[in-house]
Amino acid sequence: MLERLQKIISAAGVTSRRASETLILNGQVAVNGVVVTELGTKADPDKDIVTVDGKPLKIASQRLYILLNKPPGYITALKDGQGRPLVTDLLKNVAERVYPVGRLDYNTEGLLLLTNDGEWANRLMHPRHEIEKEYHVRVRGKVLDQQLKRMADGVELEDGMTAPAVVNLVKDGEQHDWISVAIHEGRNRQVRRMCEAVSLSVVRLKRIRYGSLMLGTLRSGQFRYLTEAEVSMLSGQPVKPFVTRPPKREIHHKPERSGGTGSGRRK
Ligand code: URA
Repeated sequence: MLERLQKIISAAGVTSRRASETLILNGQVAVNGVVVTELGTKADPDKDIVTVDGKPLKIASQRLYILLNKPPGYITALKDGQGRPLVTDLLKNVAERVYPVGRLDYNTEGLLLLTNDGEWANRLMHPRHEIEKEYHVRVRGKVLDQQLKRMADGVELEDGMTAPAVVNLVKDGEQHDWISVAIHEGRNRQVRRMCEAVSLSVVRLKRIRYGSLMLGTLRSGQFRYLTEAEVSMLSGQPVKPFVTRPPKREIHHKPERSGGTGSGRRK
């Protein structure tokens, strides 16, 4: 199927659709060896060879969308210099290389999305979409209403004020309280830093919701594939086709044996 070049490049995870347009205009993109600088140009990702700076795009045979319940003690990266366990180590039997949509800290647990659809990932992470993420935080000791209100109104961090958040007490424990924090910004270690700013000590941090997608009952370390409806709902756009290039089915015919039962059909 013919698609615009900028869509093909961003879907391959090279960069966003907008930045792909710049690559095209700069003459860095070629289709079947011919440099293309026209923005409206289309190609067929199944048949044409698209290169960026001379390197062919890695076009996945299937678009995969995964929800993982990340355990603490896993790194949200594809490799780690310190040899720590990677979130992708948990994806047994996943045929394609997928990468995380955003990140959770090493010790944060809960809902993590992974995909090989670069365009979808870029759309979800773009600040314009302001997708709300909700975290449950176990904090040491008792929480004061005033601390919740300060976090909800916005606190001053070293990279500026945080936007208003939805912050509530969810469980009043003996030694520890649980609070929920819903934010739509994606700053580094944001929830931990917001807690620190109001003198709350974080014992556990778990993401339980991404937009309207809930972590649900998935056990720690387990994953599932998103449904087509969930994929479209998260990006606010219908995502189709779900499988971009179905694996070719090879049908092996058994050679007929002479002297056997002919067609092999039982009479
Ligand atoms: N906020 C944090 O502090 N850490 C995370 O991993 C995610 C959100």
